[in-house]
Amino acid sequence: MATDGKNKIFLISVGFWLIFGVESYSGLDHVLTINPGGSVTIPCHYNEETQWQMKFWFSEIFQLRTYTNTTEENLSVIDRPDQSLYTVTMRNIESRQSGFYYCVLESEGKENTTYELFLMVKSVPDVSVLSSSVSGHEGSNVSVQCLYSSKYRDTQKQWCRYKDQKCFLENKTNTSQSSSVQISDDGENSFTVLMNGLRLSDSGWYFCSAGNRIIPVQLTVTEAEPEHVNFSTE
Ligand SMILES: *[C@@H]1O[C@H](CO)[C@@H](O)[C@H](O)[C@H]1NC(C)=O
Ligand SMILES: *[C@@H]1O[C@H](CO)[C@@H](O)[C@H](O)[C@H]1NC(C)=O
Ligand SMILES: *[C@@H]1O[C@H](CO)[C@@H](O)[C@H](O)[C@H]1NC(C)=O
Ligand SMILES: *[C@@H]1O[C@H](CO)[C@@H](O)[C@H](O)[C@H]1NC(C)=O
Ligand SMILES: *[C@@H]1O[C@H](CO)[C@@H](O)[C@H](O)[C@H]1NC(C)=O
Ligand SMILES: *[C@@H]1O[C@H](CO)[C@@H](O)[C@H](O)[C@H]1NC(C)=O
Ligand SMILES: *[C@@H]1O[C@H](CO)[C@@H](O)[C@H](O)[C@H]1NC(C)=O
Repeated sequence: MATDGKNKIFLISVGFWLIFGVESYSGLDHVLTINPGGSVTIPCHYNEETQWQMKFWFSEIFQLRTYTNTTEENLSVIDRPDQSLYTVTMRNIESRQSGFYYCVLESEGKENTTYELFLMVKSVPDVSVLSSSVSGHEGSNVSVQCLYSSKYRDTQKQWCRYKDQKCFLENKTNTSQSSSVQISDDGENSFTVLMNGLRLSDSGWYFCSAGNRIIPVQLTVTEAEPEHVNFSTE
């Protein structure tokens, strides 16, 4: 049965954890829940040193590699060198696709997994967003509403940046390195992330999380509108 298979994968993974110690990072830290028929885009970051390596998306259940710049009906893996990442878009997701997925870099036959997640296809996602893409002008504010199911009411809510895995937590305002971020949880079924005073450097991929359930969101910050810029004549 499919469920047995899934449990087995979980057990193997937990066993792996116990043997090798809890890594700061594991696929079980990032569980993406998507409804059947749904779509999702996931960013796979790399850096300058690895930009020339082969890059692929790996499905553990199907033992299938999809290299960058592949566009299929239900799957695209596109390299975006200007952003130092490639994006994976899965469309028309089916239940049988539940399982572990990895972003992998390949060089001279050696492979490096840079990101792993567990995709769980379920009719009511645990965490979701109304819009997975938001944008705003430099200096303006944006808000993102992240929805969660009742089971995740009491878990930690976060807004994290994929690139450096830095997270913003509820009731803590970090203003030092980026625009100020405030997270307010309605305690029912959603939390709102408000980013004030956007900077161009805030552009990129983030995720909302409640416990280990995540959903990616892309933020695009565009240059301030010309009429708001006043050049000094001095
Ligand atoms: C994929 O496409 C991007 C943008 O069009 C290009 O810069 C990159 O070199 C391509 N990568 C591969 C592996 O073909
Ligand atoms: C894409 O998804 C649709 C809907 O689930 C399915 O009918 C179709 O066969 C899929 N295409 C491929 C190439 O797998
Ligand atoms: C894999 O990543 C590690 C750490 O970033 C690096 O030391 C190693 O050279 C990489 N291997 C390959 C094949 O790129
Ligand atoms: C952004 O939010 C701050 C505080 O929440 C507010 O003072 C400011 O007016 C807002 N700016 C814009 C452009 O809406
Ligand atoms: C926010 O500040 C806390 C400690 O004050 C830190 O642990 C966390 O990484 C910071 N988050 C970001 C996104 O800078
Ligand atoms: C955040 O602050 C609100 C209001 O002060 C409080 O009800 C809530 O429990 C706090 N949340 C966390 C995670 O500390
Ligand atoms: C830009 O400067 C002009 C002339 O100095 C002034 O009249 C105008 O109000 C300024 N606009 C803004 C948005 O500050």
